[in-house]
Amino acid sequence: MKGIVLAGGRATRLSPASRATSKQLMHVYDKPLIYYPISTLLHARINEILVISTPEQLPLFEELLGDGSAWGCRFSYAAQPEPNGIAAAFLIGEDFIGDDSVALILGDNIFYGVGLGEQLQRYTEPEGAVVFGLWVPDPERYGVLELDADGTVIAVLEKPVVAPSNYMIPGLYFYDNSVVEVARTTAPSARGEVEISEVNNRYLREGGLQVSKLPFSTEWFDVGTFDALLDAQQWVAGHQRRKGLLVGSPETAAHREGFIDAEQLRFLAAATDHGDDLAKSGYGDHLLRFLEFEAGGE
Ligand code: G1P
Repeated sequence: MKGIVLAGGRATRLSPASRATSKQLMHVYDKPLIYYPISTLLHARINEILVISTPEQLPLFEELLGDGSAWGCRFSYAAQPEPNGIAAAFLIGEDFIGDDSVALILGDNIFYGVGLGEQLQRYTEPEGAVVFGLWVPDPERYGVLELDADGTVIAVLEKPVVAPSNYMIPGLYFYDNSVVEVARTTAPSARGEVEISEVNNRYLREGGLQVSKLPFSTEWFDVGTFDALLDAQQWVAGHQRRKGLLVGSPETAAHREGFIDAEQLRFLAAATDHGDDLAKSGYGDHLLRFLEFEAGGE
C-alpha cells in the first residue's frame, strides 16, 4: 500500500502565523506538524509516501524531508495548485498510486494510541474503502457517521448542522485502487471541491465502505486553529515529559516498524549534516533513549 500526505491549503485560520510558511511545517512542540501524520503512516507499515502541497510550499517540504531514505522510506512530491478538495489528491497522485491501494492522511491530523499501528495494519489490503470512527463531543465540525440502531452506517455527512451521532471520521482513509476512478467521477461540491465524504458515500452506496472504530482513548488532533495548535503542543510536551519518549517521531516509528535498524537510528541521532542540530536540541538524545527503552524488552 502507498501513502499520501495532503499538506496543502492556505491555513487562513492561522494567519498571520501562516503567511510566510505552511501550517504543516509549523512545530507541534519539538517537531514539524507533518512529522506526526508521516509517523502514523509508518506505524501502518506504509513507507512509500507522496507529499502534496501548494506549488509555493512544496520545495520547503522537500528540503525538510528529502527522499526519505534516511528513514528507510521513499518520498515523492506533487503540487496541488488549487484548493480543489481532499479527494483531488487521488487524481494528483494517480501515477504514484499506479496499481496499488492507497492510504490518505491529512497533514494536520495527529493520531496517538496504544495499538493504533496494529489496528491500521489490518486495513492495508482493503476491498473498497476503510474509514475510522472516533467519538467526540463536537462531531458537527467534521465528517460524521450516521448509524442505525445496530451500529450499521447509513450515511457519511460532511459538517451537518445537527450531527446524527457522536462519531466523527478523522482524516485517515484507506482505499483499494478503485479510488482513483471514484475520485475522477465524483462531481465537485458547491464550494468547488471533490469532497472526501462524497467519495466515501459512493463506496457506502455500493456496499464497499468499512468502518473501524478507534478506541475512545485515542488521542486525535485536527490542528487548524491557534487553540488546536496550542492544545496539541501542550499534550505532546506533557506526554513526552512524563513518558520520556517521542510522540510522532518518524525516526522511532521507522525503527519500530523495521524500516531502519538500531545503527541507522543511532546515526540519525548523531548526524552532523545539519551542524549537529539534533544533538543540540535534545531530539537526538530522545532517539537514543528510545533504543534504551526497546533494549528493556518492550
Ligand atoms: C476534513 C474532512 C472531514 C474530516 C476532517 C478531519 O475537514 O472534510 O470529513 O472529518 O477533515 O480533520 P476539514 O478539517 O478540512 O474542514
